Amino acid sequence: MSVFKIEDLCYSYDNGKKLVLDNINYEFEKGKTYAIMGKSGTGKTTLLSLMSGLDVPKSGKILYNDINISKINENKYRSNHVGVIFQSLNLLPHLTALENVELSMDISDIKIKNKKEHALKMLAKVGLDENIANRRVLRLSGGEQQRVAIARTLSYNPDVILADEPTGNLDAVNEKQVMDIFKKLAKNDNKCVIIVTHSDNISNEVDNVYDLENITKSIK
Ligand SMILES: Nc1ncnc2c1ncn2[C@@H]1O[C@H](COP(=O)(O)OP(=O)(O)O)[C@@H](O)[C@H]1O
Ligand SMILES: [Mg+2]
Repeated sequence: MSVFKIEDLCYSYDNGKKLVLDNINYEFEKGKTYAIMGKSGTGKTTLLSLMSGLDVPKSGKILYNDINISKINENKYRSNHVGVIFQSLNLLPHLTALENVELSMDISDIKIKNKKEHALKMLAKVGLDENIANRRVLRLSGGEQQRVAIARTLSYNPDVILADEPTGNLDAVNEKQVMDIFKKLAKNDNKCVIIVTHSDNISNEVDNVYDLENITKSIK
């Protein structure tokens, strides 16, 4: 069964004069990695904000486990079921990596006895040791910051991870490290990982590619 289904999705920023997303139909399963591709301006970030419940479709549906996400409490949906990693990462630069992860556990209603231990475990999962965990985010490299953002998302154990151009600012070595983390999360932890990207290195590594530029347009 698909964990996520997008049905006949349309979206425009100007009341339908120009459709940014025109009749999108995609399905996503757990345990798999996906790339959503397309040139700049094709609507990748728009699609991601709709999938994360930050905005609502003009028509069509987004289903999470067969439930329309518009029917799920918005905060609960975003702080428990779906982990979103925005391009800006939204980390707090003056807090340590560890504190950033702990903070997101406070916001979600996940029940964990030893928060610090759990946060360190999530950071270790993305290859960040205790030394890095205790460093302020502003003292970390771009690749390390990206991994902190992934660890923060993992802290509340969402089924789906959505990442907007997670390797856009990384060199090839860091890009591969981040992609390896995403692949492991799908294969070992059964997550559904959805990566918005225009990197061919990523699209070559995922299980499935959806190309926003080449969708079959329906006749209206
Ligand atoms: N808030 C907004 N208001 C109006 N137009 C927008 C807004 N955000 C994005 N757009 C337009 O929607 C289109 C898709 O944008 P976006 O989803 O950011 O594309 P991508 O992430 O693929 O580069 C672009 O033409 C962009 O200019
Ligand atoms: Mg974008």
